Amino acid sequence: MTELSALDRAARQHEQRWGRAEIFSRAPGRVNLIGEHTDYNDGFVLPMALPFDTAIAASRASKGSKTEIFSEGFGHAVLAPAPTGIESRHWAVYLHGVHDLLKAEGVDPGPWKATIATDIPAGAGLSSSAALEVAVASTILCLARAQRSPAETARLCQRVDNEIVGIPSGLMDQMISASAIAGHASLIDCRSLRTRPYPLPAKSAVAIMDTNTRRQLVDSEYSDRRAACVRAAAALGVESLRDARLEDLDRLPTELGTERRRAHHVIAENQRTLDAAQAMSDGDPETIGALMNSSHESLRDDYGVSGPALDRIVEIARRSPGCFGARLTGGGFAGCAVALVQADKAAEFRAGVEERYRNQCGLEAEIWLCEPAAGASVTTADA
Ligand code: GLA
Repeated sequence: MTELSALDRAARQHEQRWGRAEIFSRAPGRVNLIGEHTDYNDGFVLPMALPFDTAIAASRASKGSKTEIFSEGFGHAVLAPAPTGIESRHWAVYLHGVHDLLKAEGVDPGPWKATIATDIPAGAGLSSSAALEVAVASTILCLARAQRSPAETARLCQRVDNEIVGIPSGLMDQMISASAIAGHASLIDCRSLRTRPYPLPAKSAVAIMDTNTRRQLVDSEYSDRRAACVRAAAALGVESLRDARLEDLDRLPTELGTERRRAHHVIAENQRTLDAAQAMSDGDPETIGALMNSSHESLRDDYGVSGPALDRIVEIARRSPGCFGARLTGGGFAGCAVALVQADKAAEFRAGVEERYRNQCGLEAEIWLCEPAAGASVTTADA
């Protein structure tokens, strides 16, 4: 028997609780191939959507009734007329945030009921919260018969992180979840929001390696890094580090040593990301792999966002047959790394990394071999 997808589970549970759903919406998690901590510096990123979704089945409810949500993993929440029991890091704050920001733009779906299920591992750095935001936004827009472009949806969802949850994250996660094209990674220019799809090089595969480690206090480290970038840009007299060059770093005063290292990472990473996109066009997985390796070293040494388990699994991956390159992915410190591997050696790669990681770290890694998936979509029962 095949396992039910998140969308099938949401639809089934919705029908049992509230009757047949009218709207089915899904949004994927993501893995970033390269371009880390560049999005909030107006730079370049090269993520792809994962074949893991957060899915929502929803239906309009009668006037005067409550807007209620049931989440398979997290339980029940009431969004309206007044949200109950929602603290700043409660899962339902993402729903509440999207709902309120859309309402402020005049998008009012009236009362509704929804059921949520997800296949995206939480806390692994695969953007489960961005997928939740994008899936909720798509659902509310469809319920209210309103429309937004993927970039507008992504911006609105980013505001939930920034203004309501209180994390100063960039736009990458929401943008790829809203706009990805199946079979392709996307080069996103986080200043213009122009995106360009690139297929993976032939005979290569993407392996996502969950170290099965999680870390607290990542939010404050993230805010620290972002603040250091802002200080570096201000000291260089540029709008953002996107506009700086490596040779400009010599102009930074010696007391800004930390800022210099952070900026070095961002400026070099932007170039690596453009070079990786070019290598995608050239169908050159060796070059992409080498750039991924340099990215990891820069994130570890200059940006200070790696962690022992990430360094270990990246090292193990790189020494495994068929690996073009490997690096941490997402915000860092714990969670997942990503590798580009030879497709015909991918299964062997996975088994080897799992075994060596278990032997060296005493932990079970979870490794997924993934094709790039499509961005968010919504269907209606009458479609
Ligand atoms: C997190 C943030 C993104 C991005 C990455 C690092 O995933 O949500 O906006 O900054 O970290 O590249």
